[in-house]
Amino acid sequence: MSRANITSALKPDLLRGHTAWITGGGTGLGRGMAERFGALGAKIALSGRREEPLAETAQAIRDAGGEAAFATCDVRDPAAVTAAFDALRGELGEIDILVNNAAGNFLSPSEKLSPNGFGSVVGIVLNGTFHCTLAAGQRWIETGTPGAILNIVTTYAWTGSAFVLPSACAKAGVLAMTRSLAVEWGKHGIRVNGIAPGPIPTEGAFSRLMPDPKLEERHKARIPAGRFGTREELAELAAYLVSPAAEWIRGEIVTFDGGEWLRGAGEFNDLLDLNIPWDQLRPPKK
Ligand code: HXC
Ligand code: NAP
Repeated sequence: MSRANITSALKPDLLRGHTAWITGGGTGLGRGMAERFGALGAKIALSGRREEPLAETAQAIRDAGGEAAFATCDVRDPAAVTAAFDALRGELGEIDILVNNAAGNFLSPSEKLSPNGFGSVVGIVLNGTFHCTLAAGQRWIETGTPGAILNIVTTYAWTGSAFVLPSACAKAGVLAMTRSLAVEWGKHGIRVNGIAPGPIPTEGAFSRLMPDPKLEERHKARIPAGRFGTREELAELAAYLVSPAAEWIRGEIVTFDGGEWLRGAGEFNDLLDLNIPWDQLRPPKK
């Protein structure tokens, strides 16, 4: 779906006067949010491990008339995170929005995981989110800056999921972090919310998690909306949630999955796949 097909509920300058730090902002959903936030007037601070996608995304935002800067860092390294945050603030001015989007994931039977494999994903998703949140939160509390944090989790943060154990554990932790800090930091004017997306095609996610087109089709078939989500749709929701228009939304995780997880949960939902002779099942009228 192209942007042209999306009906936006957002006013064109919704994020003017704000500066958003988007981790993992050089690719996939992060890039989608970065470009959309930039178009809505925000200054954009990007981070990730690789320079090339960050530089390319920053240039795309500038080419569209926006302002952007980037810094490389591995979110697992707290000192590198602080250095990146300081460098980005130095270049763009105070940051008041943080999107914890960077993540790592892969499919594996859990009994085949090594401690390093488990630690790598948990280190990126859970510890990394904490490191970025701490850098921004400490600064905002110290300077009395109201801020908004948006954590990108996924629907199996609630349910758990086979074959992605480290990611499921880490995303569940981020969900708890979202709700905990929404309360603890609320008095500082810091809002913390999240989005739990279902499958949205990106190179990073689909190359690792849907390595076979047949698998893709199976996933798509169980989405009541009949399709995958798009990064453009996600960016619309994200922009709303980080904007002042969502001031009273705190500690909320918005499910964004075309109905997928409920489709898997309802006892009788699989009847949708069967050709049930409903009229024959009805008792005859007395
Ligand atoms: C088992 C694996 C593995 C696999 C890596 N490891 N891939 N184990 N099966 N497929 C193990 C390695 O053997 C190693 O353990 C440990 O993990 C660290 O691997 P490295 O390659 O050294 O780690 P690193 O370079 O830090 O890379 C991290 C990564 C990688 C997570 C493994 O995939 C990555 O960089 N991902 C970033 C992007 C990403 O994953 N995007 C998708 C997000 S999608 P040993 O013991 O051998 O040393 C997402 C969507 C969810 O989250 C919802 C979808 C609906
Ligand atoms: P992606 O393109 O692979 O995005 C992951 C980003 O995180 C990359 O830009 C990557 O850049 C960065 N990153 C990874 N490890 C890092 C580290 N150690 N330090 C700093 N940055 C790191 O995948 P995506 O699909 O857009 O995923 C974005 C977010 O959406 C993730 O939180 C994911 O869990 C979530 N999500 C995605 C889907 C989906 O279907 N796409 C569904 C549910 C949730 P570098 O490699 O350059 O570091």
